[in-house]
Parts: sequence; C-alpha cells; structure tokens
Amino acid sequence: MQKVVKKINSGLKGSVTIPADKSISHRAVMFASLANGKSLIKNFSKGRDPLSSLNVCKALGIEAEFKNDFLIINSNGKFFAPSKPLDCGNSGTTMRLMSGILAGQNFNSVLIGDESLSKRPMKRVIEPLSLMGAQIKSCDFKAPLNIIGKSLHAIDYVSKLASAQVKSCILLAGLNAQGTTSFTEPYVSRNHTEIMLKYMGANINSDENTVTIEKSELEPKTIEICGDISSAAFFIVAGLIVPNSKIILKNVGLNPTRTGIIEAAEKMGGHIEILDKKAVSGEIVGDIQISYSELKACTVEGKLIPRLIDELPIIAVLATQAQGTTIVKDAQDLRNKESDRIKAVVAELKKIGANIKETFDGFIINGKTPLSGGIQVESYHDHRLAMSLYVAGLICENPISINGFEWVDISFPEFAKLFNSIIL
Ligand code: S3P
Repeated sequence: MQKVVKKINSGLKGSVTIPADKSISHRAVMFASLANGKSLIKNFSKGRDPLSSLNVCKALGIEAEFKNDFLIINSNGKFFAPSKPLDCGNSGTTMRLMSGILAGQNFNSVLIGDESLSKRPMKRVIEPLSLMGAQIKSCDFKAPLNIIGKSLHAIDYVSKLASAQVKSCILLAGLNAQGTTSFTEPYVSRNHTEIMLKYMGANINSDENTVTIEKSELEPKTIEICGDISSAAFFIVAGLIVPNSKIILKNVGLNPTRTGIIEAAEKMGGHIEILDKKAVSGEIVGDIQISYSELKACTVEGKLIPRLIDELPIIAVLATQAQGTTIVKDAQDLRNKESDRIKAVVAELKKIGANIKETFDGFIINGKTPLSGGIQVESYHDHRLAMSLYVAGLICENPISINGFEWVDISFPEFAKLFNSIIL
C-alpha cells in the first residue's frame, strides 16, 4: 500500500492516547501462559507482532479469548507439543523469547518466521541456550529453529550485547532450569521481563547490569499494559518539528530503560513536559506534553543506545531539523533489525533532501535542512521506517509517497488515524 503524506501548514494540536506497548504485550501473553490459572491482560496491543506471540501460545495449547478491553488467558501452567511449526511472523521478540521457553520443555518444536525474520541473527540466543544444555538446530544460526526439548541447567552468562531479547530469552530459560542463572550485559537494556516476572512471583533480582533468576512458578495476575513510548516517539518528534504544534500524549510508559528518546530530545532543546506520573502493573506511566522547538544537534552514543534503540530512525528525522552536526554511534546492531536501519534511513532521508552520511555503527546528520520531498520513498518492509518517513513527510515542501505503508500494522495499526485526529 502506498501512502501519500503532505506538508502540514497549521501545526499539530490536541491529545492522543498512545496504544499498548508492544514489548510488554509480548511478555504479558507469554508469562500469563506460563502461570497456572486465569490471567487478565488489559489493553493488549493490536499490533501484528504481539498477535504472533498470542498465536504461538495458542498453538502450544493455551486458551485465550478477547472480552471487551481484556485478553483472558487460561492455562494450567504447561505448554503442549505443537502439531505444526510455530509461526513468529515478523517478530524477533516472539522468536527469541519463545526459544528460551521452549528449549527447556519435554517436547520438540520448530520456530519459523517471515522473510525478514528468517534473515535475522539467532546465534545470540542459540549460543547461551546451548551452554544451558539446550539443543537447537538452525540454518547457519538463522530460522527455522528446530528445538529439541531438554532439561536445562543454570549458567552465569556475560553478554557482549546489551539486548533485552537475549536477556529475556536466558531469564526465561533460567525460570525452568536447575540452579541460579545470571545474565550480565554491558549496559542496561529494557527491563520489562524483570519487572513482570517479579510482579508474577518469580524469584528474580537485578543489581546494576546483572539479573539473577531461580527456577520459579508464576502466579496468574491482572496485567494492565501502558502506552508504547516507541509509538509515542513519532508524535514527540512530529510535535517538535512541525511549526506551531502543541500536543499531549496520554498513558505513555516511562520506564527509565525506554526514555532515552525524551533525554535525547531534551538535550537537543526540545520542550517536553511530563505530567501525571503513576505506577501501573509495576511500570511507570505518565502523560507527555510537547511543543514545537528550535533544536540543536547532539551526540547519541554508549549506554543511551539501548534506551532508545528503536527510536533511532525517528531521531534521524529529528536531527535533520537541528542546528549543527548530530552524531549517532555505537548502534551497529541497528543493522540487524527488521531491516538494516542504518542503510535504509540514510538512503531514504537523502532522497527527500537530508544531509546524512552512513557510518559503520550509526550516522552523521548536518542540519538544519529544509526537506524537499516530491518523491517516492521505501519502507523496506519495516514498520519504524514507514512511520519515520511519514513524520518527515509532514514537513516536506512537496508530498512524498511511502511504499509498503501497511507494515505500520506490525506495531501500530492506529498510527494514521491518530495522526489525522491532531492535524487541524
Ligand atoms: C525488544 C528489544 C529490542 C528492540 C525490539 C524489542 C524487546 O531488541 O529493538 O524492538 O521487546 O525485548 P534487542 O534486544 O535485539 O535490542
């Protein structure tokens, strides 16, 4: 599907309730499935990725039903051998987290994915799981993953990557392994797994960059899912770069392991105010007010990277409107996402008039540059690319057409409708 985006002349005004967090939705359905009893998940994401996790859990014998605003999960705390390969679709989170759960089951299973997921690296989970006694056959460390169920033992694993997917995979394997498993990462990545497992009664503890977990049973719970800051990020940037804008984003998750986008935008001079903070199911949630701002360049690197990893494409758009040279580095893993996001973002922003250069681990952008547009751009079958280009289109002199805009549905099917509601 092609989407035409035109320049906005009047500014963005009003408020938007941000839909459910994708990362937390994956975890909610998986962990509720592992608990013995009935769990209620409020505000489960309608994105295709979390639905892949739900379908995988159903294929493993879990009963699930949507009722009003709830997803109800009924489980006896056990999965059953699937009758066919488990389809993770486009979702790396589904494949990597489920591999940690399935490696320690008393049955075999196969995880498959779409074209993009089948190209993504799985060595990062296969290697540590093998150290725990898992047996996984793959295609040169890529999907399909043939998992031979084994009983697992604990390990102390020191990861070179700061990755919440790898961390969660090992913690979930540790939940069902003999002994105490520890996972240490160079910088702290998103910690939704730790928060939710604790909330559901697991014996799990964090100390700086290390998490430890012991074999534990999970209790069924009511889990309320907050809005996704990675979805809010597109509105944050649009509010900052579309002249005369003032918007409020409601019910946004503000877990400090995810708020790198707010820190980076504030460092660039963005006017952002947090209103009404509260705790919901162990996560911090609040409203965010954004006003159009004069921006300056900054450097994004090091421990900030895992705290805004999914926001780097939209940060590139933001940087085109900041005075000076913005440098993004230490983000090489961006090449292993739904697309090579370094290559893709540089190629497409160049097409619409940005002054941007690719580096091996990020990009360098010189601003402030007016964006000319008037051209077709590609989504690379990548939801975050499609949404970043949409926001860029709002300030392009001439309309742009985005090819493959339907990929937005992976994380944020409500995206265009919500934008339309604040365009005057
Ligand atoms: C996610 C972790 C991140 C992120 C992805 C979701 C998660 O991936 O990019 O969109 O839910 O744990 P990595 O762990 O590979 O950095």
